[in-house]
Amino acid sequence: MPARPKALVTAPFRGPGLDTLRGIADVVLDPWIDHRPVRIYDAVALAERVAAEGADVLIVESDVVAGPVLDLELRAVGACRGDPTNVDVAAATARGVPVLRAPARNADAVAELTVGLLLAVTRGVVVADREVRAGHTYRDGTIPYQRFRAWEIAGRTAGIVGLGAVGRATRWRLQGLGMRVIAHDPYADDATHHLDDLLAEADIVSLHAALTPETHGMIGAEQLARMKDGAIFLNAARAELHDTEALVAALRSGRLGGAGLDHLPGEHIEPDHPLCALDNVVLAPHIGGATYDTEVNHSRMIVDGLVEFFAGGKPDNLVNPEVVS
Ligand SMILES: NC(=O)c1ccc[n+]([C@@H]2O[C@H](COP(=O)([O-])OP(=O)(O)OC[C@H]3O[C@@H](n4cnc5c(N)ncnc54)[C@H](O)[C@@H]3O)[C@@H](O)[C@H]2O)c1
Repeated sequence: MPARPKALVTAPFRGPGLDTLRGIADVVLDPWIDHRPVRIYDAVALAERVAAEGADVLIVESDVVAGPVLDLELRAVGACRGDPTNVDVAAATARGVPVLRAPARNADAVAELTVGLLLAVTRGVVVADREVRAGHTYRDGTIPYQRFRAWEIAGRTAGIVGLGAVGRATRWRLQGLGMRVIAHDPYADDATHHLDDLLAEADIVSLHAALTPETHGMIGAEQLARMKDGAIFLNAARAELHDTEALVAALRSGRLGGAGLDHLPGEHIEPDHPLCALDNVVLAPHIGGATYDTEVNHSRMIVDGLVEFFAGGKPDNLVNPEVVS
């Protein structure tokens, strides 16, 4: 009988998945996210840590699993993300090491933030908060009711671009808020619209497509010009999906009603960036997936996969099923 596994977990890990892992393995839990400044191991540093702990199961979120890490005697690697870009899967496969992933772990989290951005944009919540705090409730001879009137979202049309895990989690939420939801996704059978038709029909356009060579810059000046006057643009996916300069121009001119963005060019913009000067824009710094539930979800998915693998099965979330006979 193989020895009890020893798991080094450098991902944030919690909930029933962690409890189960403690039942089947000795666990060293040292999440990268608990370190200030943030600690991301490169392959050499991670290999040293794995060796020092004597671990044979490795569960990571952002650390680099490649080269010397895969020269160690690992029984399994868990990558707490949908797309384990931080793991050299080919090398793991060559060494017969199973790699588990956690697809859609943060779909609900991003969908909730998308709804939050939508309501914050349409109702001017951020500007209202700023004015209240600054003592400007009555400014320029007006009362707030005069300045903050808006259209409601119920009864309006939302266009979802990218009907994957987040797009679907967003769709039912918007439907629940009374919206008619249309969708564009060349790879989803139930997507209803071509992109141009969606842009022309939607009061709110929300991007949830994967970033690929095909989708990079898919929303440029031409696409923004197709959107309805006063429409709202949301992107809680990747900034590279849209042309930021063209978006700024469309917002500045008043053609678009507003925008909510959870991903910024280069992950960070300076305070003098044109987006920061626009009151009809709500900005968030890539926090869509940042919920404790995301961590509960990936912990459960990775550990369910490990349990099945150790029992001789072939888990659904194996990235390299060919390593299991
Ligand atoms: N803000 C955040 O914190 C956060 C967190 C997780 C994911 N994301 C981003 O959200 C997006 C969606 O993530 P997901 O987990 O739903 O991924 P997913 O892979 O489940 O869905 C992506 C969808 O994009 C579709 N797609 C591909 N090419 C397309 C095209 N040309 N036009 C329209 N759709 C196209 C795919 O068919 C797929 O359905 C990704 O860009 C991802 O990087 C952001």
